[in-house]
Amino acid sequence: TKKLLIDVDCGVDDAQAIMMALAAPNVEVLGITCVHGNTTVENVCRNTLRVLKVCHKLEIPVFKGADKPILGKCIQAEHFHGMDGLGDVPDLNVPGLDMIQEEGGVSAMIRLVNENPGQITLVATAPLTNLALAVKLDPSFPSKLKGVFIMGGNTESRGNTTVCAEFNFAADPEAAYIVLNEYHCPTTMACWEFTCRSKLSWTFCAAWLGQKTEKAHFMENIFRFSMGKSVSERMQKEFVAGTGLVSCDSYAMAAAIDDGIVLESDCYPVSVELTGRHTRGMMVLDTTDKLNKTHNVQVIKKMDLDKFMEMMMKALQ
Ligand code: BDR
Ligand code: CA
Repeated sequence: TKKLLIDVDCGVDDAQAIMMALAAPNVEVLGITCVHGNTTVENVCRNTLRVLKVCHKLEIPVFKGADKPILGKCIQAEHFHGMDGLGDVPDLNVPGLDMIQEEGGVSAMIRLVNENPGQITLVATAPLTNLALAVKLDPSFPSKLKGVFIMGGNTESRGNTTVCAEFNFAADPEAAYIVLNEYHCPTTMACWEFTCRSKLSWTFCAAWLGQKTEKAHFMENIFRFSMGKSVSERMQKEFVAGTGLVSCDSYAMAAAIDDGIVLESDCYPVSVELTGRHTRGMMVLDTTDKLNKTHNVQVIKKMDLDKFMEMMMKALQ
């Protein structure tokens, strides 16, 4: 089995990614750490508990991590994920925040990795604040990971949050910089443009949500708010014909779970722009080795979407 540690800002696609991990027979989720991002870290904690509850997995420990980026203010994505981060669906049975572990998220990450050196795969589907703080507290942290899978960044300087920056990087550019420059462990990235190009059809989406299960019902409810809000019309035209379902975080999760699912990838050193007026938070791919970096990351270009859809389906069964 694969031991996973998941770092989330539990919005709708984080929920989808978590459910995918919980449904995978070869995966043991050791813990979920929460961070600011799509919504406040308190909402993220609550949303994570809601997802675990519908999956009958409340025994998995949930930890609260950073409530703001390393510099500057939080940006949130309420327009897409709703005020509560999960589509603002009334839910009378939300587990209480007293179920959150007392230990802080970053300490928990470091402890778990030290208890299982070389065995944990970290999947990060959120601003990278917790990951950055972990390497600052324990510089050996990344070298004790089996690998890290990140949803974030972009490869063609197209943003979904600012002109040039993808949300998870825009929400904490310094953290992204620290991770991409200090995590010298096997690193795989599902970047924004790749996720847009790997959209799933609405026909699939209907079959996926139409499964007669408690989980599918939950997903349909929380997803209603953001469905159809995917990307701008221009992006849709340029990237794919027509609209479709983009579950950004699930691509990073699928790659972490199934070693064979990535069909094509590029290997480059990458970094993050920190100062540009339009480009702060934009990922920079060093295709010419001008940064003199020795560490390459694997940037996913193509995934086996049949396998991916199968994993998405199973996640709601
Ligand atoms: C990313 O930003 C968030 O809104 C999503 O959860 C995903 O992690 C996509 O840019
Ligand atoms: Ca996310």
